[in-house]
Amino acid sequence: MIKALRGMKDFLGGDAKKYEYCVDVCKQIAQNYGFSFCETPLLEETALFKRSVGESSDIVGKEMYQFEDKGGNDVCLRPEGTAGTVRAFLEAKLDRSLANHRFFYYGAMYRYERPQRGRLRQFHQFGVESFGIDDVKEDANIILLARAILDFFGIKATLKLNSIGCTTCMPPYKQKLTSFLEKQDGLCEDCLRRKDTNPIRVLDCKNEKCHELLNPAPRLLNELCEGCKSDFEKLKDLLSKAGIEYEIDTNLVRGLDYYSKTAFEFVSDELGAQGTIIGGGRYDKLIEYLGGKPTPAIGFAMGFERLMELVTMPKSKRSGYYFGSLCDGGYEVLLKKASDIRKHHKVHLDYQNRSLKAHLKQADKKEALYCVCIGEDELKNGTVWLKNLENKEEKTISLSEFKALDE
Ligand code: HAM
Repeated sequence: MIKALRGMKDFLGGDAKKYEYCVDVCKQIAQNYGFSFCETPLLEETALFKRSVGESSDIVGKEMYQFEDKGGNDVCLRPEGTAGTVRAFLEAKLDRSLANHRFFYYGAMYRYERPQRGRLRQFHQFGVESFGIDDVKEDANIILLARAILDFFGIKATLKLNSIGCTTCMPPYKQKLTSFLEKQDGLCEDCLRRKDTNPIRVLDCKNEKCHELLNPAPRLLNELCEGCKSDFEKLKDLLSKAGIEYEIDTNLVRGLDYYSKTAFEFVSDELGAQGTIIGGGRYDKLIEYLGGKPTPAIGFAMGFERLMELVTMPKSKRSGYYFGSLCDGGYEVLLKKASDIRKHHKVHLDYQNRSLKAHLKQADKKEALYCVCIGEDELKNGTVWLKNLENKEEKTISLSEFKALDE
């Protein structure tokens, strides 16, 4: 039997319902915060991710689903949503408009990682990207939106916050850090490689020995330029005033190369090793770097599989109709009626003649609000029998009078 690929999961039954529910909630809250839906292709030119996510990142270095298509193009399944959204923004020339633009998206992303709890090769993200606002008020807006989604589901997750500086303060800091790293003996292989490619990534190494060695490392938060420092202070103040708790984490550098200034993550301690539900930050230079007009930007993405582990579905309510026939000829009458009612309501139309008791049992299982049946008497009299499964009221009404109950 052919099975799903390693690290790729189906959403069926309860999981599918939960995914739909989570998408609906996230969409609604994002809209409330001023974001509108956008959709970009799953497949993009590999160069887009190399240039935006960055050659030194693990994603580009070892996790891309990259291949040559039949036309000889070097393409790649999207490992994340920011790069594609920026490409679409640029292609639509929105960088030339003076307005700000806010988008949300959701869907599958692909990273060839070692599968484990909370880490898949095909996973789903809900992401938001805001273009054109160079003000920490937007950073606060984005963080509040992320918090609002988690709060809706009753999820407790710690907001970790850092600033990773800008083109003024980052380069001298990198130099300082590199000379510190040069003096350390015993860094793991990953850190040694990162020391040369992107030294700040060394800070989020999970290896115990590296952790100890890096304890006295210089911290960018102490080396920020005036602009970054004042923005970070303003952001902290705004969050405090909005009642949002946070922890400063000077090791939070994010695994993608496009970030500058604000970086944040929401981390749950109920998810094991892969506890980050949401990750995001500013990327003020990316649009320019990809050929657009300088445009400040900020966003985040949330992992649905991780979110779904923590979401409890609300108790489902009865809704719609169950139609069942007890005798030959009943189904055909119900089929016509079902088409009318289905214009506005869910109708489960059963195909078999069954006893009333069997139909009622099925209607209950389908969580229908109304059970509608036709037996020989009803067929003869042009009526249907209808029962409200919540208040248990039942009645027989003429077929022509029987309309959806809210009509
Ligand atoms: P990221 O931190 O790479 O950021 O991913 C965001 C979230 O996606 C993670 O916090 C996690 O919940 C989920 N995630 C990532 N990889 C996996 C995986 N292999 N399996 C399951 N879930 C996973 C980004 O993708 C950025 N584009 C976020 C962003 C948007 N920054 C600015 N705008």
